[in-house]
This record gives sequence, C-alpha cells and structure tokens, in this order.
Amino acid sequence: MWEKLSGSQIATNRLRIVKILETKREGPTVKTFTFQDKKCAEADPGQFAMVWIPGVDEVPMSISAMGLDGRCSITVAHVGEATEALHKRKPGDILGVRGPYGNSFRPVDGNAMIVGGGTGIAPLVTLAENLTKHSVKISFVLGAKTHDELLFSERIETVLSKIDARAIITTEDGSYGLKGVATDPAREILEKEKLDMIYTCGPEQMMYKMWVLAERWGTPLQASLERLMRCAIGLCGSCTIGRFMVCKDGPIFSDRQLKEVKDEFGRFVRSRTGKKISLQPP
Ligand SMILES: Cc1cc2nc3c(=O)[nH]c(=O)nc-3n(C[C@H](O)[C@H](O)[C@H](O)COP(=O)(O)OP(=O)(O)OC[C@H]3O[C@@H](n4cnc5c(N)ncnc54)[C@H](O)[C@@H]3O)c2cc1C
Ligand code: FES
Repeated sequence: MWEKLSGSQIATNRLRIVKILETKREGPTVKTFTFQDKKCAEADPGQFAMVWIPGVDEVPMSISAMGLDGRCSITVAHVGEATEALHKRKPGDILGVRGPYGNSFRPVDGNAMIVGGGTGIAPLVTLAENLTKHSVKISFVLGAKTHDELLFSERIETVLSKIDARAIITTEDGSYGLKGVATDPAREILEKEKLDMIYTCGPEQMMYKMWVLAERWGTPLQASLERLMRCAIGLCGSCTIGRFMVCKDGPIFSDRQLKEVKDEFGRFVRSRTGKKISLQPP
C-alpha cells in the first residue's frame, strides 16, 4: 500500500507541528487561530484539517482562511473538551496539523445562493472568495442566534462588494438583520429566482431544511456535513453516513447523495461508541 502513496499524500498525512501566530476572538464562544502551514494554506474551499491539541485530542476543523504567504486559519467554536483546551492556547503555543482532507465545494457560474449558520460560515467565506473568480451572482444568507455570534460579516461584505452579490443576515433574537432563521429568506429567494446552485454549511437541521427546499424546487445543492472523525483517511469508520465516509467521500455532499442517506441526514449522528444521537427534528 505504501508504494502506491505519492510523496505528496504521505506529506499530507504526516502530523506537522505548527506554532500559533495569532488568535482573534470572533464572538462569545468562537476564536480564530492563525498558523503557518504551506499545505493547509493551499487547501481548496471546504477542505478541513485534523488539528491535534497536545495531550488532549485531535479534531477536524475547516480551514477558514488561506494566505498566499503560507499562513492559514481555523475558526473554532468552544463546544467540549478539545475546543475548550484549544481556546486556552495562545500565540507561541504549539499545535499539530494533518491535511488538508476531503473534497471541496464545486464552483458554478450563474445564480448561486450560499446559506450558512454558526461556524459553518467559515468554509463558506473561502468559497465566496473563490466564486469571485467566476461569472456568478451570489445571495449570501448568514444566520446566527444573536448579533454577537454573527461570524465574518465584514469579511463577507468586502468579498461581495467585488461582484454582483448581496448579503442577507438573520438573527434568532432580532438583534441584527431580519428576525428569524436563515432558511426563511432562503425560501423566499428560491420562490422568486431560478438558482443554479445552493451551497450550505451549518447546523445539520438547517442544511436538511435547505435540502428539502432544494428538492422541492429542483435546485442542485452542495452541503458540508460534520461527523465524528478519527483517522480522516477512510480507515476507522467513525464518520460513516449510509454508505459514505464523510472524511473521504465528503465533507461536501450533493443533493443526490443526500437523498441516498435521507434516513440518517438531519436525523442522527453517532457517538464515539457508535450509539445513535438524535438531532432535534428538522
Ligand atoms: C469536516 C469538519 C469540519 C469542521 N469544522 C469546524 C469548524 O470550522 N469550526 C468548529 O468550531 N467546528 C468544526 N467542526 C466540528 C468540530 O470538529 C467539533 O466541534 C469538535 O470536534 C468538538 O470537539 P470537543 O472535544 O470540543 O467536543 P466533544 O466533547 O467531542 O463534543 C461536544 C458536542 O459536540 C458534538 N460533536 C462533536 N464532534 C462532532 C461532529 N464532528 N459532528 C457532530 N457533532 C459533533 C458531540 O456529540 C457533543 O454533543 C468540524 C467538523 C468536521 C467533521
Ligand atoms: S474518520 Fe476514519 S473513516 Fe472517516
């Protein structure tokens, strides 16, 4: 097997030790970490890295910025043990990275809608930056619980100002933009316009709702899924959804692939022991 692997694949999988160069608070529970890593800085939008927090755990994180100077970032919500430990890390501290892994968002020309919520917005910003090289009109719908938790709104405004695009912001408490959830204006746009692609990343119930709407209007969709990950190279099986492995076949799935796994998508994820954990009904 080793003979079949190219030098580049081996280098991708090798754990590289990096130093945190910068941290930035993005919201009450979210921080961005910047480090130097040539491989991750060359990632395509939607790809992820495995990030090792020494002595704690290794977790998958989307690459939220890629610089020409080899600097790149991850944007991390504090949800449990590993992300709590990561949030305590400071510039100068060490992390391990492997990757980038997985497929990436496929760009289209035409009329596209991007729908994101929470830290799901991270890979969507890099997608929007990439789409500016295409002949595309973008409606970017961003959702957050509160104004404080809204991510990257300035960076998105800057990107969208370069092309035919608009940003629609929703907050659940109405503290900024429209009161409600991202799927509300997304539904209205779908009712009025013919779209060539919907891109979505965020809470799985939100992506499920977008998939149902996309099916109804016959619009193609790409959604970035999250599952528990260990190896990230298709060996351990922790990230399965139906016949797919999210680390290897995803994390981006098409509307057709999601149809195949509709009994699982939006309904449950699996714990470390393989037990089903129900998601709130969509
Ligand atoms: C491809 C990919 C990209 C990701 N990108 C980002 C990102 O850019 N920013 C970010 O903040 N997070 C991202 N995540 C999620 C992140 O990996 C998890 O939040 C992290 O592993 C949680 O680790 P923890 O030890 O802090 O929490 P844990 O104690 O392990 O878990 C806390 C809670 O989150 C749930 N959970 C943990 N991991 C997952 C998962 N992979 N899927 C569904 N539920 C999970 C657990 O069931 C539990 O309820 C991504 C996940 C994947 C698979
Ligand atoms: S994380 Fe091991 S198979 Fe996907």
